[in-house]
Amino acid sequence: MEKPFELMRDIYENGGGQLYDAEAVTQLQHGLQSAALAERSGAPSHLIVAALLHDIGHLLNGDERGAAERGEDALHESCGAAFLSRWFRDEVTEAIRHHVAAKRYLVTAEPGYAEILSPASVRSLELQGGAFSAAEAEAWYRQPGAADAVELRRWDDAAKDVAAVVPGFEAYKEHIESVLKLDRPELKET
Ligand SMILES: [Fe+2]
Repeated sequence: MEKPFELMRDIYENGGGQLYDAEAVTQLQHGLQSAALAERSGAPSHLIVAALLHDIGHLLNGDERGAAERGEDALHESCGAAFLSRWFRDEVTEAIRHHVAAKRYLVTAEPGYAEILSPASVRSLELQGGAFSAAEAEAWYRQPGAADAVELRRWDDAAKDVAAVVPGFEAYKEHIESVLKLDRPELKET
């Protein structure tokens, strides 16, 4: 069985060439740019890995491609978090699980945030339930992982630069191996 780093790299290298939603960058570029932004801002390993893998749900379900164009929400955040939870600690998967809700939160909690969203993000926001009410935003932010998801969301929103040159997947091997579940030591490199 493939070890987690090799498995993640293969998923991105085999399926990551598809365009990221309706943006101009590929899924692989989007993940690598998100991780590079996280690393540059001094984020801990679990958030760098969450940034790298946050949209893996888009790559797991072939039928989901173009779902937003068809007016559907394929819940890529839950599907990705559930898949990754076989190997990764909760601090990684919870940030991923909440990264879509973080957009609904920020639109309400942060004046001006909605204006920086790309047209594709605005379109998917509606499919994802739209902005939270003030009470929903307050309750949501109290959940474990919510603050991490808000940080992840900012890198996600910025990681759509067609001209960015960033490190490749190999640069994240150590970060990935440092946030695996401790009860699955057989999955770690020896
Ligand atoms: Fe994303």
